[in-house]
Amino acid sequence: MKILSIETSCDETAISILEASGDLQSPVFHVLANNLISQIEMHKEFGGVYPSVAKREHAKNLPTVLEKTLKDAELFTPEKNEIIESDIEKILEREPEMTDKLLEIVKNMKRPDLDFIAVTTGPGLEPALWVGITFAKALANAWGLPIVPVNHMEGHILSVLLNAKENKSIDISKIQFPLLSLLISGGHSELVLVKNWMEYEKIGQTVDDAVGEAFDKVARILGLPYPGGPEISKLAKEGNENEKIKLPRPMIKTEDYNFSFSGLKTAVLYLVRDLGELTEQDKKDIAKEFQTAVGDVFIHKIKKAIKKYGASQLIVGGGVAANSYLRERFTNELGINIFLPEHELATDNSLMIGIAGYFGAISGKEKSPDEIRAHSNWSIDS
Ligand code: KG4
Ligand code: ZN
Repeated sequence: MKILSIETSCDETAISILEASGDLQSPVFHVLANNLISQIEMHKEFGGVYPSVAKREHAKNLPTVLEKTLKDAELFTPEKNEIIESDIEKILEREPEMTDKLLEIVKNMKRPDLDFIAVTTGPGLEPALWVGITFAKALANAWGLPIVPVNHMEGHILSVLLNAKENKSIDISKIQFPLLSLLISGGHSELVLVKNWMEYEKIGQTVDDAVGEAFDKVARILGLPYPGGPEISKLAKEGNENEKIKLPRPMIKTEDYNFSFSGLKTAVLYLVRDLGELTEQDKKDIAKEFQTAVGDVFIHKIKKAIKKYGASQLIVGGGVAANSYLRERFTNELGINIFLPEHELATDNSLMIGIAGYFGAISGKEKSPDEIRAHSNWSIDS
């Protein structure tokens, strides 16, 4: 099957074309094309993602990214195509800024050899999600294709199934259920029990800020640019243990599998206030202590969940899974098999949406376009 996948839930506009075959136990993926435009530069001045800017940028970029992706995959054949323009115009009523460019593309190319469209429908920023969904509906109409809605968090879990560098699937014959998945991004921090592919139970989550959000806010306190995760990670490498710089390990002792990161951020704020003028070394030491605190909490909670649920494998996903310090600790301290996404697949991308879309398609999760809508709070287990 050839899958066109679209991701617009946050600040990356991404479209891929994947070729997939096999069943849930032995899927085979091959990337035909993959493109992504990051809006990070746009959001830097706000210190975070600004939803109306995200929506505008997605709408501006989607047609261009689509055209490039089709060409990269050699699925773009110039030819006049009879399209009912009024149908497309109606579908794009909510996003009229995309209409002209999209019509120009679909009217001037042969219907491409694709089997379905996978699109992120949640969780994420509602206006941003809608742009991708509406775009998917317009293409589905133009080319007579079905749509498979994809949960972004499921995409993060399944991102570990692809070895993008070598463009091949990883061997999952040794996967044993149940396994645990730690999903850590700018919007989420959750611990999920994976009972089987497509069968999830959320066993814990943050009660306040997501861990990526805490990285971003702490970076801001230290005067570092957005996104803060990579900046903190860089600084922490040169940090030392420092008597004066100690932070709490929030909720490490609670019986549940929940997390809290807002207090940790506030503790950094107070620490910085009490220290007065910060030296460059103080900043490095704070970054190191912050990262260590986050790592301690994750390791502790995961160990407890491994015992309780008898899991022998862990999948880590989400932007914060790009953090090399955390990757090392997960690999060395848990004593179980770890699956980590490649850096490029840890942060938001459309390849993971294509993979999850394939799993959805072979499990009968296709929906008619009228039924597809944005679910900004869509939980992975509902
Ligand atoms: O998954 P993602 O790209 O988008 C969401 O779905 O939220 O995650 C973005 C988050 C940001 O908060 C960013 O600071 C964080 O991932 N991040 C990192 C690193 N790279 C990105 N956090 C810690 N260390 C990193 N190396
Ligand atoms: Zn994400």
